[in-house]
Amino acid sequence: MENAIGVIDSGVGGLTVAHELMRQLPKERLIYLGDTLRCPYGSRSEDEVRQFTWEMVDFLLQKEIKLLVIACNTATAFTLEELQKELEIPVIGVIQPGARAAINYTHNNNVAVIGTEGTIRSNAYEETLKTINSEINVFSLACPLFVPLVESRSVYEYKFKEIIQKSLAPLKMEQNIDTLILGCTHYPIIKDAIQEAIGDKVSIVSSSEETARETSVVLDLHQILNHKPYKSNHQFFTTGKIEIFTSITKAIFKSSIKNLKTVTIEKAVIR
Ligand code: DGL
Repeated sequence: MENAIGVIDSGVGGLTVAHELMRQLPKERLIYLGDTLRCPYGSRSEDEVRQFTWEMVDFLLQKEIKLLVIACNTATAFTLEELQKELEIPVIGVIQPGARAAINYTHNNNVAVIGTEGTIRSNAYEETLKTINSEINVFSLACPLFVPLVESRSVYEYKFKEIIQKSLAPLKMEQNIDTLILGCTHYPIIKDAIQEAIGDKVSIVSSSEETARETSVVLDLHQILNHKPYKSNHQFFTTGKIEIFTSITKAIFKSSIKNLKTVTIEKAVIR
């Protein structure tokens, strides 16, 4: 089936998932929407996140996507269940895949998760990890400064490492963490600095690879994989400024993207 896979995030973070989808599913076409104008979602209320997410979903449904990937942990935490119930297409979030990946990595069952305030407040990782393995000890920490660090490149150089070190300090006091989940799709963009701050004994896990694998399985299960020859006509939309998007895309994809447009999305009615 040639229809595209829709990918949404509050900004550029979901590009880390889109990149992995392109790598694992080279025949698939993606339509990406980042709500950069209203980013960050992590400090917003659940109602706001639900409202904005439905607006992004409606935008992509008009483009007749065949599957939706919520490449945002905050939106996954607050909307996955309702979107899976209400939409007629398969919907995949990033929390379950991230939790599964961490369980594969940990040797001592001490897993930490960092994410936005919304994701950490929702307890979604802790619940998912414990559902898979009730023996897991979960240490959760909100890092509200990381998304603005990634989205506004101007702050990037200034006190960058210091902010990361200070934010992660509480985790260094927790005994024996061997695995750290990047519970926000923006964080892989600053993974090296996170690894440096937390130390090399801790394995860092992000959900992108596992999410792409799950997408592949679900496409196959629903018999909606694209079997036609690969055409690289992915489309990228942002509600904000193109400049930041372009520079971050270059850093992630190691090349610039062509089809990138700024769009205004309409108010949606939550179903
Ligand atoms: N990238 C998103 C996530 O995975 C959200 C970042 C934000 O908007 O706060 O949670």
